Amino acid sequence: MTVDAARALQVHSERFGAEGKSFRAPARVNLIGEHTDYTGGLVMPMAIDFQTIAVVSPRQDGRAVFYSENFGDEFSFEIATLGLDGRGEWSDYPAGVVWALRQEGVPVSGFNMTLWGNVPLGAGLSSSASVEVATAMALLDAAGVELPIERLANVCRRAENEFVGAKTGIMDQFVVAGAVAHRAMLLDCRAMTFELLPLPEDVRVVICNSMVKHRLADVAGYGDRRGEVEAGQAVVRAERPAVELLRDATLDDLAACADRMSVESLKRCRHIVTENTRVLESREALLAGDVETFGGIMYAAHVSMRDDFAASCEEVDELVEIALQQDGCYGARITGGGFGGCTVNLVKVAETEVFVAAVKAGYKASLGIDAECFVCEPSDGALALLRAAGSSATTLQAGA
Ligand code: GLA
Repeated sequence: MTVDAARALQVHSERFGAEGKSFRAPARVNLIGEHTDYTGGLVMPMAIDFQTIAVVSPRQDGRAVFYSENFGDEFSFEIATLGLDGRGEWSDYPAGVVWALRQEGVPVSGFNMTLWGNVPLGAGLSSSASVEVATAMALLDAAGVELPIERLANVCRRAENEFVGAKTGIMDQFVVAGAVAHRAMLLDCRAMTFELLPLPEDVRVVICNSMVKHRLADVAGYGDRRGEVEAGQAVVRAERPAVELLRDATLDDLAACADRMSVESLKRCRHIVTENTRVLESREALLAGDVETFGGIMYAAHVSMRDDFAASCEEVDELVEIALQQDGCYGARITGGGFGGCTVNLVKVAETEVFVAAVKAGYKASLGIDAECFVCEPSDGALALLRAAGSSATTLQAGA
């Protein structure tokens, strides 16, 4: 499904009887660096060309009114009295942004907002961060406030962590806000600094959706893993004063603490320590234009997510193995939080069409499931999209 700003502006003006202003935020795929963000580690995501559009216009009664074109549903509340009271539905993501902006001291006045997007839900492509960042961009503009990227990402992370209740890290919100077209982003989640890295011209990033849905706010899965990681990190920190976060730990540190943590924590922490190294090795490979090496590291990362982090599933593993059998596929791995969702694959440009057809056919033959595949290029994040649109963003003129 394509979404476009002109149509979103039209929907908004028909519904609310007022011209709106539109803002866009992309989705993201993580090339490598999984579950490293919440222990100050390294990640390498890129934005992809799926979008959430937020159209906003003011209202005078101090209420926030959200309309989702995707869900055909409207939800409203009084801004001044909004507490931490999510209702477990789509509206928690944008409402959480209202809450988090107010926590940050940003004034939020009454508004109507239309949200419309084409990011697949529950596929591990950050539909939630896309909604959060689009909402935040619109409300910041309405308030006449600019936030540096780190604070913008942090507001959106707080919406997700505290309002929605999904204890995620900072990766998704940061890259969705700050990505730059044609580049992957190597983000240091402790320093909050990043480097933009080129992908070789002759490869494409192909995303394959296993169609197994996950939800980050689910108690089992993401939250369990984070708990196991943090328990292990606490042991290492107590034993090794130089280790503040797992980011500082080596495999030797872990081995020295092994008998003081559960087998699960040890394996989860081992994934994180080795994954940080893999991100640095991937950086070297990309800078050298060595796509074969990068692909090999991607598969090693998959094996680590599967065996040490125990966050893959049978369907995704099968999708990875089918991909690796195809000509022109350099590497494949699970991407995102895990427990379903998508794989990310690095494929020779000339082979992408054949690759997509073969993976779909192989997955259908093996598990009877129709996978969805997307051939992607690194896209602009919300801030770059706003800059590209000029200071006016996109405004529907009366009668247009
Ligand atoms: C989800 C979270 C991120 C990150 C990844 C795993 O996408 O939102 O913060 O932890 O999982 O790498």
